[in-house]
Amino acid sequence: MNEVLKVIAERYTCRDYKDQMPRDEMLDAIAQAAIEAPSGMNRQAWRVIIVQDQQLIEDLAAEGMAYMQSLEDKSMYNRIIERGGKLFYGAPCMIVVPIDPKQYGPALIDCGILCQNIVLAATSLGLASTMCGLTGTAFASGKRSQEFAKRLGFPEGYAFGCSVLLGYANSKKLPHVPDKDKIIYIK
Ligand SMILES: Cc1cc2nc3c(=O)[nH]c(=O)nc-3n(C[C@H](O)[C@H](O)[C@H](O)COP(=O)(O)O)c2cc1C
Repeated sequence: MNEVLKVIAERYTCRDYKDQMPRDEMLDAIAQAAIEAPSGMNRQAWRVIIVQDQQLIEDLAAEGMAYMQSLEDKSMYNRIIERGGKLFYGAPCMIVVPIDPKQYGPALIDCGILCQNIVLAATSLGLASTMCGLTGTAFASGKRSQEFAKRLGFPEGYAFGCSVLLGYANSKKLPHVPDKDKIIYIK
């Protein structure tokens, strides 16, 4: 296996972080890998916002947890409680990727591709990562979405797309077991 294939196979979703912040040069390299992602028609309808402000990360988590707790279906909330009650698992750094909702469908695909570049770059540098869609729960009720969009510096009209948590693993786990039955060859 070459290095790229090894990194793809190694990547896993971390749910237990140390509080140690990754070095600036690592975050710079990851941000560079992010903006090297392809996008449909090269639209690049995204931003890469690297959040190291612990208060902001805590505020997003508090609003997200409050929103999930307020839902009739508490399965998402209970899942986080079962995992220790921390929406972001103690990760010291979060990369938020807002997108232009005017082209929501394709922009969301572009956003996913960019986030995959982030997690693979992070893995290659020895960092742990979590693709974290649940950061979106902080925007879901609408109560604080404008405040968060402002604090995160979203461009006018942009909306949350996805986020990635980054840091060092406190405990490691294996990635999911790939199901080879999902692969179909037609010759
Ligand atoms: C778009 C997307 C959003 C995700 N959001 C979350 C999330 O909010 N919280 C979380 O713990 N994991 C999240 N995950 C991680 C998945 O649960 C994980 O990739 C899956 O269980 C497979 O495990 P693995 O990544 O360790 O192979 C997300 C993954 C993707 C692709």
